[in-house]
Amino acid sequence: MQITITKAETLKPKPDETQLGFGTIFTDHMFNMDYSNEKGWHNPRIEPHHPFQMDPATMMLHYGQGVFEGLKAYRTESGAIQLFRPKDNFERLNRSSSMLCIPAVDETFALTALKQLLTIEKEWVPHAQETSLYIRPTIIATDPFLGVRASFTYRFFIILSPVGAYYPEGFNPVKILVSKDHVRAVRGGVGEAKTPGNYAASLLAGNKAHDEGYTQVLWLDGVNQEYIEEVGSMNIFFVINDEIITPELNGSILPGITRDSVIRLARTWGMKVIERKISIKEVLKAHTSGTLKEIFGSGTAAVISPVGELKYGDTVISIGGGSVGPISNRLFNAIQDIQYGKAEDVLGWIEPVC
Ligand code: COI
Repeated sequence: MQITITKAETLKPKPDETQLGFGTIFTDHMFNMDYSNEKGWHNPRIEPHHPFQMDPATMMLHYGQGVFEGLKAYRTESGAIQLFRPKDNFERLNRSSSMLCIPAVDETFALTALKQLLTIEKEWVPHAQETSLYIRPTIIATDPFLGVRASFTYRFFIILSPVGAYYPEGFNPVKILVSKDHVRAVRGGVGEAKTPGNYAASLLAGNKAHDEGYTQVLWLDGVNQEYIEEVGSMNIFFVINDEIITPELNGSILPGITRDSVIRLARTWGMKVIERKISIKEVLKAHTSGTLKEIFGSGTAAVISPVGELKYGDTVISIGGGSVGPISNRLFNAIQDIQYGKAEDVLGWIEPVC
């Protein structure tokens, strides 16, 4: 398929790179492509970033039939632009889509389209340390229809946003509240899909945590409210004794690409990484016995987010005495060094763009 390109007539001024937050500024161009049962995916185009005009009955707005991804483009010291594991993102996009009855996109074509868009927008990839261009591929159901069924038409789009740190705390330990009243997802649901409803379902618990002075929520499983699943919108890891433990993927946990990178990288360092069920009681017990060394979240946006405090009911535990643990630190630096081209890409994760 040939991608049609329409350039913006005027370009926006670039932002002050020292003041970048997360997800508020968008570049000059975006990618769009449509789906219908008759034509399949068609009309791929790069055009100026613009608001959509849609019927108020558009199905995405009513029933949340949509999926999205998050990945980043990085600028290396030599000025080259590169992506981190983008094929894994498009593969996961299709896995999410299959759970939401959305037709698959051609993953190779989607990556080609993204690279073309990035080549046009390369001046938008920031230069400052720990900044990047966040990429948001998204698919939404577009039938104007109020009955509940899968849509017959869809829009796939990619927008770009220059970003700095995700959390205002930056790479510093955050305070986490264990949610007893709310769960994020349940087995048999769509917890492992990157779909808007999972994020909507997390908001009330997140607000309650904020009201109590906590940054994020630790999610327990939806069946027993005993086993740990995720933290905020990230996967979670525990360092107990010399083992790194992360909840095994069970259908209600998002299969994070940073999660997988942590597991594979730590194993190449000779560390023992175990994917298994881990209960909140086990974590509290490990803290009491002095074997709980570190807790950290992993995700595309923040990469590694150390946890400094955990509150479960009336129990409050402090981890690492306010500083970042050595394993969190090593992983954060190692992953970033690969992403920014400062370290050798031994695991084949880098995709050059331009
Ligand atoms: C991530 O950690 O990359 C996320 O999933 C957060 C994103 C939804 C902003």
